[in-house]
Amino acid sequence: MADAADHLAYSRTNNAMIDEDHAHCAELLMRCRMAEESALLGLLDELAAHFEAHFAREEALMQETGFPPMPIHKTEHRRVLAWTANIADAARDGDIARLRTFLTVDAPRWFADHAATMDMATANWAAARQR
Ligand SMILES: [Fe+2]
Ligand SMILES: [Fe+2]
Repeated sequence: MADAADHLAYSRTNNAMIDEDHAHCAELLMRCRMAEESALLGLLDELAAHFEAHFAREEALMQETGFPPMPIHKTEHRRVLAWTANIADAARDGDIARLRTFLTVDAPRWFADHAATMDMATANWAAARQR
């Protein structure tokens, strides 16, 4: 078993599509933790592209299953995409400390919290609808 430094803890939702995206997200965030400073901006771009696709898949699932709080979940996704873009702008202006904090502290914390709450609720709703 990996120790705490080697993995990122997050809740499984038992929705195969969501959990696959989350495994990819966790793997990417772990790479950020190990990365040299020169690799961080490229990793942020990779994370932004991942978020776009990951969020779009969850939004399609919410749409298909008629998830009532979809606007709230979708608004949170938009907020995180804007936050990520903001960090990228700051990093391109030289704020690498903020970039590192985002990739190694804030984004992993947000991801674990979001997976356990909005994504879990979405997965539970979809499981009940798709049965
Ligand atoms: Fe998610
Ligand atoms: Fe989500």
